[in-house]
Amino acid sequence: MLTLNQVQFYYRKGQSVLDEISFAVKKREFLAIVGGNGSGKSTLAKLMKGLLLPKKGSVQFNKLDTTEPEVAADIHRRIGIVFQNPDDQFITTTVTDEIVFGMENLRIPRDEMHARLNLVLKAVGLENEAEAMPHQLSGGQKQRAAIAAVLAMQPDMIILDEATSMLDPEGRQQMLLIMQELHRQGVTIVHITHHMDEVLHAERVLLLHEGHIAYDGTPAVLFELVALADYGLHAPFAVRLRQSLSKAGPTAPLIPDWKEWTRSQWSMR
Ligand SMILES: Nc1ncnc2c1ncn2[C@@H]1O[C@H](COP(=O)(O)OP(=O)(O)OP(=O)(O)O)[C@@H](O)[C@H]1O
Ligand SMILES: [Mg+2]
Repeated sequence: MLTLNQVQFYYRKGQSVLDEISFAVKKREFLAIVGGNGSGKSTLAKLMKGLLLPKKGSVQFNKLDTTEPEVAADIHRRIGIVFQNPDDQFITTTVTDEIVFGMENLRIPRDEMHARLNLVLKAVGLENEAEAMPHQLSGGQKQRAAIAAVLAMQPDMIILDEATSMLDPEGRQQMLLIMQELHRQGVTIVHITHHMDEVLHAERVLLLHEGHIAYDGTPAVLFELVALADYGLHAPFAVRLRQSLSKAGPTAPLIPDWKEWTRSQWSMR
């Protein structure tokens, strides 16, 4: 669906931020991208949506190259992005305006616009906040409004760039549930996060380090084999617990399936 081939990017010549990045995101995949501060995650997100263009290599969405100006609008519509700061997302005055804004740009007919508005408000649980203004919303509600605005464009893929990182646990949990539900409905999800427990929801995880992909595989194997501290990251609590128990000796009780166990801990919160 989205293919990056030998991508190199820099802001200042000679200071490469990403180098030799190659991977493909499959349709309907739930991919997490992790990496320490400044490892290039946001830069990668912008390259994926065509907001930045590679200096070398290519980024193709369904074989459409992001460097071709005539396909840029199509790619923008098909790949939605939600950023980190809830207060930077709002550009209009109410939740409804925010959702309608993008659809007006796409010249969606009125009836269709109305139908989509109701659908997406429901999808993110903001039916009762349709006329609310930004100052009346919590951070989590603002982020959900941002997702709704993206969903109204009926994208194939949504990239969430640390979209949960400024939220309280309840706001994060709601965002995760929405991501999972959208994924179930067939939307491709790319979730950039530094909360390693959130990675357990993904089918696959990419670890970025110094502009390269240091790991590409399942979350289970990442936690099992990679020393996350070397990359400025912390393993989820359940994984650290399991590791310290197994260090305590063979008689220590082992959690039979820690991945399942972590999942159950998370959903209980
Ligand atoms: N607009 C810019 N101009 C110049 N350098 C930039 C710009 N944006 C990012 N950088 C630099 O590029 C590198 C990668 O930044 P990027 O924001 O992509 O990383 P990140 O992994 O998203 O970081 P964070 O965890 O802080 O969100 C950093 O060294 C950063 O300072
Ligand atoms: Mg970032």
